[in-house]
Amino acid sequence: MKRIAFFDTKPYDKIWFDRLKAEYDFELVYFEEKLSSNTASMTRGCEGAIAFVNDTIDRSVIETMGKNGVGVLAMRCAGYNNIDFKAAFQKLHVVRVPAYSPYAVAEYAMSLLLCLNRKLHRAFNRTREYNFSLNGLTGFDLHGKTAGVIGTGKIGRVFIDICRGFGMNVIAYDPYPVKDSGIEYVGLEELCRRADVISLHCPLTKETHHIICEQMLAQMKDGVYIINTSRGALIDSEALLEAIKSGKVGGAALDVYEEESDLFYEDFSNTNISDDVLARLISMHNVLITSHQAFLTDEALQNIAETTLQNLKAYFEGAPLQNEICYQCDKLGNCEKQPNGRCF
Ligand code: NAI
Repeated sequence: MKRIAFFDTKPYDKIWFDRLKAEYDFELVYFEEKLSSNTASMTRGCEGAIAFVNDTIDRSVIETMGKNGVGVLAMRCAGYNNIDFKAAFQKLHVVRVPAYSPYAVAEYAMSLLLCLNRKLHRAFNRTREYNFSLNGLTGFDLHGKTAGVIGTGKIGRVFIDICRGFGMNVIAYDPYPVKDSGIEYVGLEELCRRADVISLHCPLTKETHHIICEQMLAQMKDGVYIINTSRGALIDSEALLEAIKSGKVGGAALDVYEEESDLFYEDFSNTNISDDVLARLISMHNVLITSHQAFLTDEALQNIAETTLQNLKAYFEGAPLQNEICYQCDKLGNCEKQPNGRCF
């Protein structure tokens, strides 16, 4: 039986992994700790590891895991910006869950927009205090407004369908447009100038780091709403804060934050957090922040567990790794898989 170290375990992760693991020859060793250079040694005695979005898989972690005999890292998520792929190449096979439910994330993005625009977060708090005043709760119709979607992959396209269902006009920016999709593609600056609502659905890469920066914010419509369910560092948070303070941005709903890794998924309610930008953002009535939970549906959790366990099974059986990713795998498919169906 293969021992697999499972990092950053939360009760909701265990439900589906425990339910499904009987079908596989794995012993899952659950750790609450995140995977980092401080905890990588905990993989001793394990042949594989399972990690998540806020684990840090840098060169030292990869080397420690290698010394411990870990040959495969199964990411139980789609994003992979937290991995040093150059360090991993030829040493550690990295597999992921490319699509577990684009609906979970796209529906969540729309629910953030609806909540923020119609001030549900404020109305909920008011009525709990028997405050039935409507002052300050005015929103706007989404019907007829323009949604600007950055990234038209699996999640972006579901979000576009949802926006169309609301009668919104949709424009999109993606360096790799989907052919014959009927999507109106425009340049990033034009998208910023025309959109009433901007929603981010692209991965975090060197090119997309701070794609929403001071200059882009300056081009946007006054009162624009920004929704980010992708990765925090797509937005320069300090520039966003200034744009909200000045009224340039009318509302921001963020399920991700660039400095989230030491905060999100943990309870700091008895502590004063030291991140002043986050604290200021949270204090604003037109900012809605949630803790990277867009993926959190039953369907997504089940799919994540199933695909992660299947990825590990394929690795240990020597089968092709359909969901492997390395630094050469990119949108253009520059990674030529080996005859055994693996990146190396
Ligand atoms: P995908 O790979 O299907 O689509 C990503 C799209 O972004 C592609 O069409 C790609 O061409 C485009 N893209 C690449 N570079 C770009 C750039 N410079 N500008 C604009 N677009 C660019 O990925 P999927 O499944 O749609 O996921 C999107 C992102 O959502 C993930 O990268 C991940 O960061 C995030 N995510 C967040 C979750 C959450 O719980 N908040 C859960 C799952 C994913």
